[in-house]
Amino acid sequence: MTAEAKLRVEGLSLDFGNSERGLRVLANVNLDLKRGEFCTIVGPSGCGKSTLLNVIAGLMPPTEGNCYLDGKPIRPGMPSIGYMFQSDTLLPWNTALENVRLPLEAVGRKDDGLCLDLLKRVGVGDFADAYPWQLSGGMKKRVQLARLLAQQPEVLLMDEPFGALDAQTKLLIQEELLRLWEKSDLTVLFVTHDLSEAISLSDRVLLFSARPGHIKEEYEVPLARPRNIETIVQDTQYNDLFVRLWRSLKEEIQLS
Ligand SMILES: Nc1ncnc2c1ncn2[C@@H]1O[C@H](COP(=O)(O)OP(=O)(O)OP(=O)(O)O)[C@@H](O)[C@H]1O
Ligand SMILES: [Mg+2]
Repeated sequence: MTAEAKLRVEGLSLDFGNSERGLRVLANVNLDLKRGEFCTIVGPSGCGKSTLLNVIAGLMPPTEGNCYLDGKPIRPGMPSIGYMFQSDTLLPWNTALENVRLPLEAVGRKDDGLCLDLLKRVGVGDFADAYPWQLSGGMKKRVQLARLLAQQPEVLLMDEPFGALDAQTKLLIQEELLRLWEKSDLTVLFVTHDLSEAISLSDRVLLFSARPGHIKEEYEVPLARPRNIETIVQDTQYNDLFVRLWRSLKEEIQLS
């Protein structure tokens, strides 16, 4: 554990239910993320990845352990922690701009210049007045991303954010997320089932065990930045890491 962790998860365990009929979902998870680091979790379905993000975001208390932001315990609803859920969380009766305004309104601010700029930066600047039902899946994700950035978070928790997108839209939005992240000092904890996505985006990939989830292995991604999503798959180091990750993940899936 390093002293300067932006985000620290310490000895975290979580049981659902009571002690006699409880389900241990997370078992002693320890994790330090440096400021500006992009870290991804992969692991079998049901191993506790979403639960971990929920606990880090302060949505549920852990059974044991603690989570810290800049050395201070995390409280629920801290604006410095942005959470992008897997599901579509845009309000259907609000336009894209109105959705992006929400985090600012929650703290009594109004800054449509910033909101419009964010919509432009994520590639939907021309759709500020459109309602979510008038947008494609990829566009809705972009608006969600703009809304998340409007909160001006320091840490992003992203739970399979692009899981439901078609393969080509996913590649485009990954590229855009990388460019946004490179220009910021955002610390990202990302969850995905897509090993290619995990390697392309991350500095470090954490492989979770079958439930109760804990970090089984940790892989530094040896690929230079800035990265090009298009050509990264030709890199032999990318391919080696993909094979190693998949072999290890497959063992855990077979156990789960
Ligand atoms: N609120 C809850 N009450 C009881 N059990 C729960 C609750 N939320 C999740 N679980 C259980 O905890 C386990 C882990 O769930 P979680 O959603 O964290 O898994 P996951 O790793 O995110 O899976 P996936 O990859 O499919 O999204 C599952 O067995 C699930 O049924
Ligand atoms: Mg999940």
